[in-house]
Amino acid sequence: MELLEQYKESVRTTWSTGDYDAMMQTEGLYEVGPRLVDALGVQAGEEVLDVACGTGNLTIPAARTGAHVTGLDLTPAMLARAAERADGLAVEWVEGDAEDLPFADESFDVVLSAFGCMFAPRHEVVADELARVLRPGGRLGVSAWTPEGAIGEFFRVVGGYLPPSPSYVDPPLAWGSEDSVRELFEGTGIALEFTREECLIHHATPTDAVDCYATLFGPVVLARQSLGETWPALRQDLTTLFNRYYETEVRMPAEYLVIKGLSNKS
Ligand SMILES: C[S@@+](CC[C@H](N)C(=O)[O-])C[C@H]1O[C@@H](n2cnc3c(N)ncnc32)[C@H](O)[C@@H]1O
Repeated sequence: MELLEQYKESVRTTWSTGDYDAMMQTEGLYEVGPRLVDALGVQAGEEVLDVACGTGNLTIPAARTGAHVTGLDLTPAMLARAAERADGLAVEWVEGDAEDLPFADESFDVVLSAFGCMFAPRHEVVADELARVLRPGGRLGVSAWTPEGAIGEFFRVVGGYLPPSPSYVDPPLAWGSEDSVRELFEGTGIALEFTREECLIHHATPTDAVDCYATLFGPVVLARQSLGETWPALRQDLTTLFNRYYETEVRMPAEYLVIKGLSNKS
């Protein structure tokens, strides 16, 4: 358990490094939040939880519907930026862990997570927690990068230069595969539906794309710092990846899995 706590402390450090919000703005990734909120039909008055909310990609559009929204994240710096972005919108921001949600059973009509649950270490523990806090008849909406998509490839390229994750950490991209997610939710009473969607990641040039990750995206900023003399090799591999999507500018189609669920608990 102590190892797990140390790992979570390192996760806080990772997501406090760089400037995630600036990266999201540069890449146009804040478009994904409102799309998922619409797809789930979030309505005024509903109790909504956004797990691993980061800087509020889903939390803020969900709160704009008039729903009562709680945004939970492990990293205080992410929550602080989310609260700034919310600019006075009523949201309850909670520092907490997706593996141990500080909420009573069946307290939410809608439970959401965008590219968040995938970064918690024990996926089955998280799936059980999402199911536990969802009311009978409640809706689940989760997005995760697919292993086959461009961001899946990006994570594999970066991971190839880093030491393997500890054995107690499940691979983040498993949340992007229908079969793995079906297994995770087995026995939870949640009926699942999957679609694959795409967003377009924007950069002026491949060099701009790599510079954006190397300065703003915590996991890559830390990789650059730890790799030292090996960083130019990773930099080159990432440039090669972005070159594939470059004509007059980089428009990288990034595939993600949308997991929609309905709780059939009685
Ligand atoms: C890629 S960001 C996604 C943020 C946001 N949902 C979005 O769509 O932009 C991943 C987030 O997961 C959070 N996170 C990682 N492990 C977590 C855990 N065990 N419990 C809660 N949040 C966690 C990080 O702090 C970070 O804010």
